[in-house]
Amino acid sequence: MSSRKPTLLGWLVPVLALAIAACGPGAAPTGSPGGTPAGTPTGGPTGTPAGSPTGSPSAGGQVEIFSWWTAGGEADGLEAMYEVFGAEYPQYELVNAAVAGGAGTNARAVLATRLQQNDPPESWQGHAGQELIGTYVAADQLEPLNFLFEEEGWLDVMPESLIPQISLDDNIYSVPVNIHRANVMWFIPDKLAEWLPATYAAGAAVPSNWQDFLEIAATLQGAGVTPLAMGEQWTSMHLLETVLLGELGADAYAALWDGSGDWSSPDVTSALETFSQVLEYTNDDSSTLSWDAAAQLVIDGEAAFTIMGDWAEGFFVSKEMSPEDGDFGWAAAPGSGGVFQWLSDSFVLPKGVGNREGALAWLRVAGSKAGQDAFNPVKGSIPARGDGDRSLYDAYLQSAMDDWASNDLAGSLTHGVVASDAWKAEIDTALGLFLADNDVAAFQTALVGACDSAGACGG
Ligand code: GAL
Repeated sequence: MSSRKPTLLGWLVPVLALAIAACGPGAAPTGSPGGTPAGTPTGGPTGTPAGSPTGSPSAGGQVEIFSWWTAGGEADGLEAMYEVFGAEYPQYELVNAAVAGGAGTNARAVLATRLQQNDPPESWQGHAGQELIGTYVAADQLEPLNFLFEEEGWLDVMPESLIPQISLDDNIYSVPVNIHRANVMWFIPDKLAEWLPATYAAGAAVPSNWQDFLEIAATLQGAGVTPLAMGEQWTSMHLLETVLLGELGADAYAALWDGSGDWSSPDVTSALETFSQVLEYTNDDSSTLSWDAAAQLVIDGEAAFTIMGDWAEGFFVSKEMSPEDGDFGWAAAPGSGGVFQWLSDSFVLPKGVGNREGALAWLRVAGSKAGQDAFNPVKGSIPARGDGDRSLYDAYLQSAMDDWASNDLAGSLTHGVVASDAWKAEIDTALGLFLADNDVAAFQTALVGACDSAGACGG
C-alpha cells in the first residue's frame, strides 16, 4: 500500500546549519521583484540584526525576506505576495533579500553564514520536512509558531499530513505557503506532433515509463532534437529522484528514506542504470544552465522535454504561454503517474530577529488566504491551505490540486522533504562523481554509505 501521509523521520540524525554550506558556492544577489535591491544588507556590516526597527516594533521598520526566488514566475509570485503585505501592513518596508540559484543552492549557503554571524533576516523560505527540522530546528534557530497557528486558525485549513513535516515535539516551526509538485515532465505539444508525427497521432508521444522514454528519446535524437533538457547539478538530483520514484514505485521509494528499504538492492541497481541511460539523452551543456534556462530550451524547440518542479509552470506562464491554449503540456514524470512527489515552501520566525513584529506580520500574510491566492497562481504552486479560490488557478494548477487531493504522496529529496541536509550533501557528492565517471556500481556503493552515515540504515 502506498502511503498517503508523509511521515516525519524524527530519528534521522540532526545536523547543524553549517552542513549546508557544503551544498553550494557563494552568494549571487540578484534583481529584486519588490523594487528594493536584492541582497541589500539591512543590519549594517557590524552584524546588527537585520531589519532593526527604528522605533518600537509596532512603528514599522524594515522586514527582510530571504529566498531564492529570482526567476520568471517565482519572482513574480513573491512580488504578488509583497503587494498583499504592503496593502495590509503599510507601516513596514519590505527588503527583498533573494539570492539567485534554483533550489537554494547559493541562497542557503549565504543564509548559513548569516546565521553563524547572528544576522538573521526577518524570515526565510525553507522547505518543510527534514531540511527544516534537521537543520534549523536542530540548531535551535527558530521560534515555535503554535500561538500563530492558533490565532489565525491555520490548523483548521492546513493539510493534516503537512503539520508533522513542520513540527517537532508538538511545536510547529514554519508557515507553509504552498505545495509544489516535483515529478512533472514538461513539453510543447505542437513540437512533439512535428517531431514524432505517428507516435503523437497514436497518443504515445509522452512516455509513461522510463523504458518508453528511452525509445522515444532515441527517435528524437535521431531527428536532431535533444530529448531531455537538464540544468546544473541540483537538477540532475531532481531527475535522479524522479527516476528512482518512477522505477521503484512510491512504497519502495519511501522505504529508501525511512530505513526500511535497501539501497544495495538489485532494483536500485536497475534504477541507477536507467538513470545512467537517461542522462545520455540530456544536453551537453547542462552543467552551465539554470533550471529556467533548461526549460527555455524546450520553449525554443531545442529540446523535447524537461523534468522539473511546477515552478516551471510559473516560468512558462511568465513567458505568456497558456496551459488552456496548449502552449505547453505536462504529464507525471515517467513511471510516476498517480503519485504526487511533493515539497512545500514555508517561512520561519528566527530567534532573536531584529523586527519580530514585522516578521510576524509577514508570516500572517504568508499563511493567509489572500496571501496564498496572490502568490500561488503566479508561482506555479497550489496553496498549502485547503480553502484556496480554485477559480484563480489555471488548468495546470487545477489538475495539481486534484492530484494532490487524490494521488499517493512521495517526498522530494532535492527540495528538503525526505533527507537531512547532511545526507543530501553526501548524495550530492556521490552524484557529482557519477556525472563525471558514470560508474553505477561505485555510485550505488556511495549511496549505501550515505544512508549509513546519515544513521538511517543502521550502519
Ligand atoms: C525549490 C523551491 C521552489 C523553487 C525552486 C527553483 O527548491 O521550493 O519554490 O523556487 O526551488 O528555484
